[in-house]
Amino acid sequence: MRTSIRHLNVTLLIAAGLLLGQTGQAEELSRGAMLSASCEGCHGTYGRSPGAIPSIAGKSAKYLRQALERFRSGEVPSTVMGRHVKGYTEEEIRLISEYLSKQK
Ligand code: HEC
Repeated sequence: MRTSIRHLNVTLLIAAGLLLGQTGQAEELSRGAMLSASCEGCHGTYGRSPGAIPSIAGKSAKYLRQALERFRSGEVPSTVMGRHVKGYTEEEIRLISEYLSKQK
């Protein structure tokens, strides 16, 4: 009897851990979505641009992150991106890049 309760506890702990892990991921994605809303005015809904501004949906997270960091440092000259991206932390840039890379 004692052992089976202990087993149950371990099982519950593992289940809780898995659940938490998954909410963590979902939370990261939804934070990324919220942060990316500010990009959509220019780059189109979900980053799919209908016009002259480049589409940013579905590019790799690494590409997006590097592009944003280069705009921020001024290494790549820009009209708006350099100024826009200065408002985000490294962590936010990572979340935005990951979210946009998952859009089609
Ligand atoms: C006010 C309009 C505007 C907003 C808002 C904006 N962008 Fe841009 N973005 C541009 C323009 C214009 C360019 C072309 C470079 C330049 O002149 O700044 C560009 C270029 C880029 C590029 C380079 C694309 C490539 O393939 O080389 C990336 C990546 C990018 N933007 C990501 C973002 C992200 C992520 C956000 C939101 C955090 C965002 N942009 C918000 C206008 C905007």
